[in-house]
Amino acid sequence: MNAAYAVEARGLDFTRGSTAVLKGVGLTARQGVIHAIVGPNGSGKTTLLRLLAGILRPSAGTVKILGRPLFAYSHLQRARTMAYLPQSLPGPLPLTVRELVLLGRTAHQGLLGLETRADREAVDRALDLARVAHLGDARLEHLSGGEMQRAFIAKALCQEPTILLLDEPTASLDPAHGLQVMELLAGLRSAQAVCTVMVSHDLNLAARYADEATLLHGGRVACQGKPSMVFAPERLEPVYGCGFERCPSSAGPGALLPFPRDVNPLQE
Ligand SMILES: Nc1ncnc2c1ncn2[C@@H]1O[C@H](COP(=O)(O)OP(=O)(O)O)[C@@H](O)[C@H]1O
Ligand SMILES: [Mg+2]
Repeated sequence: MNAAYAVEARGLDFTRGSTAVLKGVGLTARQGVIHAIVGPNGSGKTTLLRLLAGILRPSAGTVKILGRPLFAYSHLQRARTMAYLPQSLPGPLPLTVRELVLLGRTAHQGLLGLETRADREAVDRALDLARVAHLGDARLEHLSGGEMQRAFIAKALCQEPTILLLDEPTASLDPAHGLQVMELLAGLRSAQAVCTVMVSHDLNLAARYADEATLLHGGRVACQGKPSMVFAPERLEPVYGCGFERCPSSAGPGALLPFPRDVNPLQE
């Protein structure tokens, strides 16, 4: 068995001007796991994901991908290994969904960039997986927010990466589509041992699907480990500054319901 981590970040600092955005953050994830990064707005989640993707360089610390320092990867090698879905999608692009998804193949195409049958099959698979096959010919500017999000997820899948880095992939999706994306990631985890590191504000989706989680607070790791430990009201409350009630459920660990701290939901 290959003991190396798919993603291994140690002691990451990231400073912007005089502001320390991340301080001594570490995160490891093996192949075939979903690792959720959670935390309040501004806690450094996007910055951490961008460091893992190699879009930002840390002020201190190291990132290894499949056992090899990230800086030793060429752009092409990186693109063949990792797909990154940013939090804010780019503005209007004059493309159809299929054309966008085909861009995900760039790292696999030859020098001439000619589209092969394998490319077309990969695009079809990705469109299908992200449930946008019916939108292949639609222009991006005509899509709803959720459809756009799924089109970009399809593009990331079309890269056929070993590692998926997703920044709030379910943010603009309705509950059913959010679940579908998580089921898709769970399927990739078991079928292809894909390692997914994802930022999420949906604590319940993360608690249900993640194998491991990192809770950030003010640029530091507040808690890290199994979801049952991280997604506990006593861990979340000091970080988010609100209360959390666990609602019993027969479909899993029970939903976390946030409430204003000075109101006791049991007495309302
Ligand atoms: N380019 C930047 N310049 C200055 N501050 C930044 C920059 N990018 C992010 N920050 C700050 O770093 C902190 C973490 O940002 P971010 O990683 O986007 O947080 P999150 O994704 O958890 O909401 C925030 O306080 C944000 O204002
Ligand atoms: Mg963010």
